Amino acid sequence: MKFFLDTAHLDHIREACRWGIVDGATTNPTLVSKTGREPRDLYAEICRIVPGPVSLECMATEADAIVAEAKQLATIAENVVVKIPVIREGLIAVKQLADLGIKTNVTVICSPLQALLAAKCGATYVSPFVGRWDMMGQVGMDMIRQIKTIFSNYGFATQILAASVRHPLHVLESALAGADVATIPMEVMQQLYLHPMSDVIIEQFNNDWAKVPGKP
Ligand code: G3P
Repeated sequence: MKFFLDTAHLDHIREACRWGIVDGATTNPTLVSKTGREPRDLYAEICRIVPGPVSLECMATEADAIVAEAKQLATIAENVVVKIPVIREGLIAVKQLADLGIKTNVTVICSPLQALLAAKCGATYVSPFVGRWDMMGQVGMDMIRQIKTIFSNYGFATQILAASVRHPLHVLESALAGADVATIPMEVMQQLYLHPMSDVIIEQFNNDWAKVPGKP
């Protein structure tokens, strides 16, 4: 399973990439706005640091304009994946971009049928927003499981990218459900390493090691 970092924060990207577990990154307008940076320079820096696909979001709303914006974004670096919201005009653009060989991530997926439409248009990734589903009183992970079944029924190559991840259980359940990727905020990425029992055991080992004589 691939891990993408869901952020536009350069220090966080540098730090997590150092850990050796980051396969890519995703950004969105909210994450970019938090940096206070001009997008194109920021995007180029992110793409230089990240050792894999980087999703950059198109803000146009009409198919021709989305395709034009996507082509511009794709010139930033070879690892750019163009992120396009799941609106009808967006999916028209996704189809055209797929024919041009430009990779797409169809985002803001809030139903398995939207994921099916995106896959039919040739999306490289679909991003179901599991945390947002949970916030509506629905089980976000059900969406991942249903999309997995649909893609497997029909042999779609589109990858399932679990998005809107809020806590480690979302990562665990995404892995169990067979999501291809989870895009993970920095605070959740850090939590993946932690377990109180590990701390207890390590402390016990350190204490016992302190009693061992003749250490180098
Ligand atoms: O970047 C896409 C997605 O993971 C953002 O989700 O719910 O935190 O806005 P959310």
